[in-house]
Amino acid sequence: MKEEVIKLLNSAGVERQMAESLLEIPPDSAMGDFAFPCFKLAGVLRKSPAQIAKELEGKLKLSKGIEKVVAVGPYLNFFVNKGKRVAEVLERISKEKEKFGSGVRGKGKTITIDFSQPNIMKPFNIAHLRSTMIGNALSRILNYDSYKVIRINHLGDWGTQFGKMMYAYEAWGNKTELLKDPMHYMTNLYVRFHKEAEMDPSLEDRGREWFAKLEQGDKTARAYWELFSKLSLKYYNKTYTRLGITFDSWAGEAFYEPMLKDTIAFLQKKRIVKKSEGALIVDLEQYGITPCIIQKSDGSTIYATRDLAAAMYRAKTYNFYKNLYVVDVRQSLHFQQVFKTLDLAGFPWAKDCIHLPFGTMKFEEGVMSTRKGIIIFLEDVLDKVVDMVKEIIKEKNPKLKNKDKIAEQIGLGAVVFWDLSNDRVNDIIFDWKRVLDFEGDTAPYVQYTHARACAILRKAKAGKADYSLLKEAEEIALVKALGRLPDVVQKSAEEYKPHHIAKYLLDVCHLFNEFYHKHQVLVEDEELKMARLSLVLATKQVLANGLYLLGIKAPEEM
Ligand code: ARG
Repeated sequence: MKEEVIKLLNSAGVERQMAESLLEIPPDSAMGDFAFPCFKLAGVLRKSPAQIAKELEGKLKLSKGIEKVVAVGPYLNFFVNKGKRVAEVLERISKEKEKFGSGVRGKGKTITIDFSQPNIMKPFNIAHLRSTMIGNALSRILNYDSYKVIRINHLGDWGTQFGKMMYAYEAWGNKTELLKDPMHYMTNLYVRFHKEAEMDPSLEDRGREWFAKLEQGDKTARAYWELFSKLSLKYYNKTYTRLGITFDSWAGEAFYEPMLKDTIAFLQKKRIVKKSEGALIVDLEQYGITPCIIQKSDGSTIYATRDLAAAMYRAKTYNFYKNLYVVDVRQSLHFQQVFKTLDLAGFPWAKDCIHLPFGTMKFEEGVMSTRKGIIIFLEDVLDKVVDMVKEIIKEKNPKLKNKDKIAEQIGLGAVVFWDLSNDRVNDIIFDWKRVLDFEGDTAPYVQYTHARACAILRKAKAGKADYSLLKEAEEIALVKALGRLPDVVQKSAEEYKPHHIAKYLLDVCHLFNEFYHKHQVLVEDEELKMARLSLVLATKQVLANGLYLLGIKAPEEM
């Protein structure tokens, strides 16, 4: 339809490119389906925009798809033929099915996306959950737009905290106990270390010494590192499997360790490294950023050094079009330092490194901090929500088959959607009750609407239909919304923001439920019934596609 409008404008003398870039969709459909603003042309033609709109209105010949063109002030508004539009959208969905909404903008381009990144020896916390969910959704969305997506889990598996843990384990640890419940055990050791170090600060030095041993390749230290890593990965993998998340690369911080010497030497050769109080830094004062430290005064490297090496490695290995980092907003400065350093080192791709920040998720219990021992274990959150769903099912639909599987899909979906329906940069409060509200702006609401569509389709099968019978306002509004999926996916991909899709799904659900309450689907009139069934089928498809992109399951029954 847009193409038809562009052609019309073009035949009236408006350049194709201009028409394409300026055409808008008015917020209120009473103002038309497309609007062409005439301000730009006014500059070229030296007439008022309103005058131009009027002239175009007179010049345009209407086509089959475009019913009406009206000049309103500086705008030229187009009204498309409703029947034609309905048919176009529904035919396209029934043809493209699970591909409806996908694009081809990423053909031939690779995007690396760094997400999840838990810190070995520590439980998977809610910040990691946020990164995981957002990263997973973005990977799917970008992939849908034909990008080749490389999902990287940049594990936090190197750093002084390992030294602390090794000290703690040597001093107070016990292998049998460790193996019983590794994550809780390691967390407790870590908390104990910090408590004791408050009384005896020399413990910090002991930790540093252990870490230095690890860096120098000491056998005992290395063996501990391997043990702690192995146990942690086994535990993370349980959560990933549960959430249906996979990675293409597990290259974490330790992976870059052998490259750090060269990385530092390289930066020195570029003459951007300075000595400062025994440490090596890249001075960024000129850019209003505090210095990027690449080596501490004791000779050890830090987080930033490993990120510099990682970015260079990714550029070389994947030749990325964009290199994304889904990481807590509190690390913004870190990424500014790293990206600016890469820029100063002369890498043209530094501009393609993008930090995608997200805010904190807060619980009634307060924000967590592993050091203080206020920890919310992610599995506990997920289990609690799933248990709540089981209760609801028991009460509302006790005869449901596969209860446990569906409870899991709804519970996880609820947590994921709660996160993804907010603009990622915002802080969110996790509200146990509201995430599960079947009538709220939640996954269960979307999933329930999808299941309702499935239930209708189980009663009567959709088939060949005469779409022109769909004339009711609610039907047209719903079709219009369904037709928007490709644009919404594009917007999400361009802004790296999944919430556009989440919000869109809620809109579709509202419109579907309005339609469903006002009009019967399984009517006597066989033709009308088929037309309405095709609308239900298209709605089900769009909801399933959208949920898939967010990483949420769409059960057919619930
Ligand atoms: N492991 C880090 C943390 O939990 C996040 C790593 C983010 N990714 C990166 N390339 N720096 O804070």
